[in-house]
Amino acid sequence: MNGFFQKDVISIRDLGKEELDSIFSATEKIIGLDPNQRREIARGKVLGYLFFEPSTRTRLSFQSAMALIGGTSLGIADVSSSAVQKGESLSDTVRVMSGYTDVLVLRHPLDGSSRFSAEISQKPIINGGSGTEEHPTQAIQDLFTIKREKKKIDGLKIGIVGDLKYGRTVYSLLHGLCNYNVDVHLISPESLKIRKDSTYDIKKKLSYTESTNLDEYIDDLDVLYMTRIQKERFPDEEEYVKVRGSYVIGLDMVKKMKEDAIILHPLPRIDEISTDVDSSKQAKYFEQAEYGKYTRAALLGLILNKNGF
Ligand code: CP
Repeated sequence: MNGFFQKDVISIRDLGKEELDSIFSATEKIIGLDPNQRREIARGKVLGYLFFEPSTRTRLSFQSAMALIGGTSLGIADVSSSAVQKGESLSDTVRVMSGYTDVLVLRHPLDGSSRFSAEISQKPIINGGSGTEEHPTQAIQDLFTIKREKKKIDGLKIGIVGDLKYGRTVYSLLHGLCNYNVDVHLISPESLKIRKDSTYDIKKKLSYTESTNLDEYIDDLDVLYMTRIQKERFPDEEEYVKVRGSYVIGLDMVKKMKEDAIILHPLPRIDEISTDVDSSKQAKYFEQAEYGKYTRAALLGLILNKNGF
């Protein structure tokens, strides 16, 4: 039996190198499979999505992934048009939806929401982003992109830039990187430094520096991982105004980078990467978004098929 069969995916911390390697191999297999063979993987299965926060990539890549492997999807993209609006609880919504579907993906503003839902759901729960703590399938996609584009992860110098305080993709990526031998540079405004209370375990396994100055590192990085400064997570808008636009990657910055470095971003972007960078050979964020479809298809295929595919 494959280790993902009927399992929840709540935190990247639950996945070791062996599990990540299995997902990456399954992703390569999905990419290479004949479309007719792919459609057999989840034929007759239903993905449910339940999104309490806006999303373009996560929800649509899950739906696209399910279609790719022959399944269908249904769900709530906007809770204002659901019975949540009438006061229905998260637990009742999850319980009901798990009766209609074979696997559920949940995005919710509260930390712990996916783990709580997994206790209620009769079907596996995949965390599609919870509070400021975790976005495990984004980290899987980010690690797969690095591996595919750089042909390795070990030995790389990785700069993570922007909103390190509130960015859940950052915490999941850092936990994922704990499985590799990498040098990490965390670059953020002073007020958006990584949360000390969330890095206790990361510190034990990963070597990283912290700085406010991207110029110090830009020419030495193999991977530049940009993040958006997330206005919606600031308790005080004035604090957001002070730090917005702190780091902007334009062609002037790209010229300082190694020829074979790559620029990633979980997206959406606002102004932290200017659009003229999109056509540079270092820009890989749209490829990264597309890989999300294949990594999620692989994960769904493993969850839904006892012996893999
Ligand atoms: N990267 C990401 O989670 O994007 P969405 O918010 O559009 O899903």
